[in-house]
Amino acid sequence: MLHIDHLSKTFDTIKAVDDISFEVAEGEIFGFLGPNGAGKTTTISMIAGLLKPDSGKIRIGSLDLDGDLKKIKRLMGVVPQEMAFYEELTAKENLLFWGKLQGVRKKKLEERVQYYLEKTGLLGRENEALKKYSGGMKRRINLIIGLIHEPKLLLLDEPTAGIDIQTKLNIYEIIKEASSKGTTILYTTHNLQEAEELCHRIAILDLGKILAMGTLNELVQIVGEKDIVIVSGKFSIDQARTIISSFQQATVLSIEEGKIVFSLEASKNISTVLEEFFKKGITIDDVSIKQPNLESVFLKLTGKELRE
Ligand SMILES: Nc1ncnc2c1ncn2[C@@H]1O[C@H](COP(=O)(O)OP(=O)(O)OP(=O)(O)O)[C@@H](O)[C@H]1O
Ligand SMILES: [Mg+2]
Repeated sequence: MLHIDHLSKTFDTIKAVDDISFEVAEGEIFGFLGPNGAGKTTTISMIAGLLKPDSGKIRIGSLDLDGDLKKIKRLMGVVPQEMAFYEELTAKENLLFWGKLQGVRKKKLEERVQYYLEKTGLLGRENEALKKYSGGMKRRINLIIGLIHEPKLLLLDEPTAGIDIQTKLNIYEIIKEASSKGTTILYTTHNLQEAEELCHRIAILDLGKILAMGTLNELVQIVGEKDIVIVSGKFSIDQARTIISSFQQATVLSIEEGKIVFSLEASKNISTVLEEFFKKGITIDDVSIKQPNLESVFLKLTGKELRE
């Protein structure tokens, strides 16, 4: 449904988006996972027609974005990272205003506004100005504005940033409902867990490039049949690197003073590795072993941890 073909955008010397290609099927929730500055917002802005690509093609269904932008915009809902609505107007006034702007007829619009206010638990607060809303309440309104005209394609730019877990779950539920009704969703986030839980497929993005893409299971194969071992203790970066590098079955994923994360072939016994630390008189404070997940894939691909 969404076809992105060799898309690039450079700002001065920064390659914000560097030759990315991907496709999202109808009704699919496609996660765009990357740290700050990875190029998520730049990509969304280009698909939304707000920023012109340097090169590459964007197609939505059979329509070319270069073509009838006005027609395409009607098919699209955009939930921007920076919230966009009128703070002085009430929630309901905002929803009616944005819905009308998208061409939703009055009766249908009123029904949908009512439906989503109820669904987000905001019914009863709809006549308050948005400036009086909490951050989580504003996020919900921001989401409804993107959905009010039943778009075919919904672009979500970190829609759960800075909100509590209950509000997050509410937002996930609404996104899943839209997807199950056939809305195609591009979901950007730097939260690994929500990418794992919510997205059918995920692209891992860093420094403008897609490093890997697939279902969670496919991505985890990148790390393979391995254990992820996290060792903390009193060691320097060089000490830990030297020890782990001496084991062929181990690969360093990330390293900092006092903490190393590495993958180890599942058959290999961790105690032989730890013995090397002890032999050098290094104190170990903690050892934990995890199964590969999106976090370890991310570490392997980028060499860095993805923190909120
Ligand atoms: N208008 C602009 N002018 C100059 N540089 C820009 C502009 N917009 C983005 N950039 C740069 O492009 C790169 C990608 O930025 P982008 O906002 O797309 O990242 P992001 O993945 O959305 O990050 P975040 O998680 O912080 O929102 C960054 O290095 C950023 O500084
Ligand atoms: Mg962004």
